[in-house]
Amino acid sequence: MTCPVIATERLRLREWRDPDVEAFIVMNADPEVMQFFPETYTPERTLRFVARIRECWAERGYGLWAVERVDTARFIGYVGLWPATFPAHFTPAVEVGWRLAADQWGHGYATEAARAALAYGFDSLGLEEIVSFTSSVNVRSWRVMERLGMRRDANGDFEHPNVPEGHPLRPHILYRIKRQADA
Ligand SMILES: CC(C)(COP(=O)(O)OP(=O)(O)OC[C@H]1O[C@@H](n2cnc3c(N)ncnc32)[C@H](O)[C@@H]1OP(=O)(O)O)[C@@H](O)C(=O)NCCC(=O)NCCS
Repeated sequence: MTCPVIATERLRLREWRDPDVEAFIVMNADPEVMQFFPETYTPERTLRFVARIRECWAERGYGLWAVERVDTARFIGYVGLWPATFPAHFTPAVEVGWRLAADQWGHGYATEAARAALAYGFDSLGLEEIVSFTSSVNVRSWRVMERLGMRRDANGDFEHPNVPEGHPLRPHILYRIKRQADA
């Protein structure tokens, strides 16, 4: 399955192209973008990540879209659906996630693209539920979840197993959204 193109009011969610990778390397090396991750990415790690993104689309029929602004035709980051398979009380699950270049924050682009990703997950993939999670100190990210109408799971807090024990970014909060009942 290749990645479908989705147009929103101001954005195009599309397949990854080779010229995106250079901008993605820069983004993933930016300490502001990666503030709530244990570390920034080396160029090699970003290349591995892009390869996994492409594999995910091919193997599962969903994944992270490259997000492009319609007005500038510029790649600004990713938004999309991703398998959460690490050991936790709510996995396996499908997660909605986002990462944009810092100079693109504050315009509503993450929320606009994530709405389209959720609609794809429910309407085209037929998922019953989509989750989202973030380190509890990543307020910008959980505000996106709130804007999307996701609900925080009051009993959902968890320690992310891929973050070292005792690390301040290990505690995570969990949001959920269920497919709307058909009208
Ligand atoms: C998390 C992240 C995607 C949030 O980006 P964002 O731009 O704050 O989120 P949104 O797209 O929802 O934009 C909302 C902001 O745009 C503003 N905005 C401006 N014009 C807007 C418009 N036309 N429509 C909607 N919102 C608009 C809103 O007021 C809001 O600003 P505020 O937060 O200052 O109140 C971004 O901070 C990021 O990429 N972080 C690094 C990666 C990361 O941590 N990812 C999450 C890991 S779990």
